[in-house]
Amino acid sequence: MAKKVLVTHQLPGGRIQELARHCEMNVWMGPGLLPPAGLRAELAGCQGLVCLLTDRVDRALLDAAPGLEFVSSMSVGVDHIDVQALSERGIPLGNTPGVLVDTTADTAFALLLAAARRVPEADRFVRDGNWTAANAWAPGFFTGKDVSGATLGIVGLGQIGQAMARRAAGFGMQVLAWNRAPRQVAGIEMVTLEELLLRSDFVSVHVALAPATRNLLDAGKIALMKPGAVLVNTARGGIVDELALADALASGRLAAAGIDVFEREPVPADNPLLALPNVVVTPHIGSATTLTRARMADMAAVNAIAALQGQAMPCCVNPEVYR
Ligand code: GLV
Repeated sequence: MAKKVLVTHQLPGGRIQELARHCEMNVWMGPGLLPPAGLRAELAGCQGLVCLLTDRVDRALLDAAPGLEFVSSMSVGVDHIDVQALSERGIPLGNTPGVLVDTTADTAFALLLAAARRVPEADRFVRDGNWTAANAWAPGFFTGKDVSGATLGIVGLGQIGQAMARRAAGFGMQVLAWNRAPRQVAGIEMVTLEELLLRSDFVSVHVALAPATRNLLDAGKIALMKPGAVLVNTARGGIVDELALADALASGRLAAAGIDVFEREPVPADNPLLALPNVVVTPHIGSATTLTRARMADMAAVNAIAALQGQAMPCCVNPEVYR
C-alpha cells in the first residue's frame, strides 16, 4: 500500500510531481498556511511530512502522528522542528542547505547597503512629496554611512557567512568573523565575538538559531557594538534581542539596522523596530528568488523520495538515525 505523505503547501520546482508517483500525496491547497490544528489533523495517519519553516513540529505533533517515518523541511534552518524528539523516534529530518547560500547573502548585502545609505527612508521621502526646493540637495542631505573601506563583522562563518564575505571583499571591506567552531578562511580575520562587535562598522548575523545562539546578541553584546554601527540579521529572530536593538537604534547609538527575520513572524505591528526610520525591514525573504525556491522545493522532494525508497536522505540533519 502506498505511504501517505502530507505536503503543507503547494511547492514550486519539478520534483514534487515525482514525489507524487512514490506515495499517496496530500497537498494543503490553502488558502494561506496550514494552521497548527489542521497540521495535526492532516498528519494523523501519514508516514511522511514535507513542511515549511512556518510549520511547528514539536513533541505534541509527533505524539499525534505515531506512524510518521520521515520529515522533509523546505528550509535550511530547522529551529521550527524538535530535532531531538525526531531523533529519539528514529525519524530522519531532511533540509535544504547549499542552494540558498548566494541568494541569502545577496539579501543580507542588499539590507546592508539599504540601511547604510538609507534607501527605503529616501524612497518614502520622495513619494511622500517631501522633496521640495526648501528640502533638497545640500551637503548634509540624506547622508549615510560608507560601505566601501568599512569593516564588516560576520557572526557565523558558515556557507552564507562566507558568501557574505566574498561580497564584502568586492566592496573593499575589511572582514572579521566569529564562528563557534574554529574555522580559517583566506582573507578573513577570525576574532572573538566581543572583539568583532567592538571593531565592526557593520555586523551581519549568519548563525542558525539553536539553544546556544538564542539571544546571542543580547543587550550586553549590543552595548559593545561600535557607536554608529549597522546591524543586519537575515538568520533568525531570537538571536538578536529586539528590544535592546530598538533602544540602541532609537537613542542613535547604532546608526541603522536591516532586519529580515523576527522573534515572532509575521512581525506584530507593535514591534518597536517598525517605528524606527533607521530600520529597514523585509518579511523573511532571504532565499526568496524564483529559482532558489524551486531548488529548495526540489531538494525537499528528493529527500522525501529517498526516505520513501528506504534510502538515507541526501541532506539529513540527524544522520545518527541511520546508524
Ligand atoms: C530560511 O530561512 C531557511 O531556513 O531556509
